[in-house]
This record gives sequence, structure tokens and C-alpha cells, in this order.
Amino acid sequence: MGATPAKPNSPTVPLDARLHAAVERALAAFLEAQPLPENLRAACTHAVMAGGKRLRPLLVLESAHAAGGTETDAMPAAVAIELVHAFSLVHDDLPALDNDALRRGQPTCHVAFGEAMAILAGDCLLALAPLSAGQCARNAPLIQRSLLGATVRMIAGQVYDTVREFPAQLDDAARVALVHQNKTGALLECCCTMGALAADANEIVVEELSEFGATIGLMFQIVDDLIDATQTAETAGKATGKDREAGKMTYPAIHGLEGSRREVERLRSRALELLAPLGPRGDRLSGLVEFLSTRTS
Ligand code: IPE
Ligand code: IPE
Ligand code: MG
Ligand code: MG
Ligand code: MG
Repeated sequence: MGATPAKPNSPTVPLDARLHAAVERALAAFLEAQPLPENLRAACTHAVMAGGKRLRPLLVLESAHAAGGTETDAMPAAVAIELVHAFSLVHDDLPALDNDALRRGQPTCHVAFGEAMAILAGDCLLALAPLSAGQCARNAPLIQRSLLGATVRMIAGQVYDTVREFPAQLDDAARVALVHQNKTGALLECCCTMGALAADANEIVVEELSEFGATIGLMFQIVDDLIDATQTAETAGKATGKDREAGKMTYPAIHGLEGSRREVERLRSRALELLAPLGPRGDRLSGLVEFLSTRTS
């Protein structure tokens, strides 16, 4: 509990280490190529390069693979989604939102660089993302549209999460579903959509992978809620026990720990079912699902 300093978080996604390293290199190269003032560059680099599982870029690349495409096809989209994710985390941690001091086992961007620079670094990462997505060789406009649409949904989800004004007549279960589908599900769905588009897959495959992404997106945020409710800051690399303290609309708050674990299991099975039509090409995504359903950081 609390923002006790932890050792830098070591990512544990049991995926292709080579692919993970390729993502790191692509992110670093993209940032280095941008003409930025040095202090802004330092804050953006801290936000993007200081650890993290790289789940979203790996999901883009694995979805492209499942749809018959290559790493080269999908890497600009993989970089783009991680930039949006990094922006979302920098702003999520600000005092006005979750007010967190620890992220990926390190000081959050506003703690390290001040609040003004953290706001501006987030803005900058948000603007850089579509520039990267635009470098996809195939379907760049569709990929950019998917990225920006998902980003707007993520921001809407953050509004529901933070400001807590909901459309009329939603009960608590519907409210938490709305928060999760938007604040987290939208970006994960988008990873799979963009991977399929980068591979120039047909509409059916794009749809199938998108539904898969939306399903694991929900599962991902429920597991994140469970991590907040049950893990230490040292394991998680970020403060835990804060959702309850802040009265957040989380899955465990509404459905309990056991109900949350049951829902993770249901979504895990559903995600695996959705991969079935892809045959062996979906195997690497299946491995990712198994990891995501049991992760502790
Ligand atoms: C944290 O995402 C924010 C959520 C949407 C729950 P991750 O758990 O993917 O964070 P990093 O990138 O690995 O640090
Ligand atoms: C964040 O959800 C979702 C974002 C859009 C960043 P959380 O607030 O639960 O994420 P953590 O737990 O701080 O990583
Ligand atoms: Mg939050
Ligand atoms: Mg948070
Ligand atoms: Mg959380």
C-alpha cells in the first residue's frame, strides 16, 4: 500500500524477447528523431522508456502476425499505441486525477519533472502518436482513424472514472462496464484492429481480432483492479490499495474479488474461443491471453 519506492519493475510478459527488444528500439528511435527541446525530450523519454510491459505494442505485432502480416508492417502502429498509452499514464498519475507518485517502479512524470512538464509531455506524446501511425505502409489513414477514435474513447473512460457522471439509468454494474470498456478496452481493441489493418487483412479478420481485443481489454482492466486490491506496490511497480481509498468504480468494488476472478475466467475462455478461427496463427495471441489472465504487475 502507498507509494513506497520499489525497485524498477521488471516486465514479465512471457513473449518473444526479440520482439520486445524490437519495440524498445523502435520507441527509442522514434523519440530520438523528434525535434524537441531537451527538457521536453527528457520528460517524454522518462514517460515512454522507463519500463513497462509493452503489452499494447506486442498485441499490435502479434495481431499483425495472426493476420498474416509482418513486424515491419505493424511497428509504426505499435509505437503509436505505446505513445498514447504513455500519455494516458502520465496524465492518469497527475494530482488532479489519481495523484500517484510511483509508476513502473519509478517516480511518476510529474514527480520527476514537475506538473507543468508532465502535462506538456503528455500532450506531446499524444500528438506524436498519429505521426508514427501515419508511417504504416498499408492502410495508414484507417490505422490513424482507429487510433484516434480509441484515444477519444479512452479519454471518455477517464472522465467516467474520474468525474463520475454517467448516462442516466445505468446501475453500478453497467457503470463499471462503461468505465472499463472505454478507459482500457478501447486501446486494447485498437491494438488488434490496427495489427489486422497493418497486415491488410480482410474485413472479417479485422472484425474477429477487434472483438478479441475488446474482450481481453475488459479482462485486462479487471485484472488491474485485482492487482490494486490484492498486490503490494513492490510487486505492482505502482501504488496499490488506492482504488478503494478513492471510492473508484472498479470491478471488485461492485462484484467482489471472487466475482471478479470468475469474470476474468469467463473473458479468458471467450478470448480463446475468438482466436479459434485463426488456427495456429493465433497461438502466440493465446499465450498472451494466458499471461494476461494471471499477471500480478
Ligand atoms: C496500466 O497499464 C494502465 C491500465 C490501463 C490498467 P499497463 O499495466 O499495461 O502498464 P505498463 O505499460 O505495463 O506500465
Ligand atoms: C488507467 O486506469 C487507465 C488509463 C487510461 C490510464 P488506472 O488508473 O486503474 O491505471 P493504473 O492502475 O494507475 O495503472
Ligand atoms: Mg486512473
Ligand atoms: Mg491510475
Ligand atoms: Mg489501476
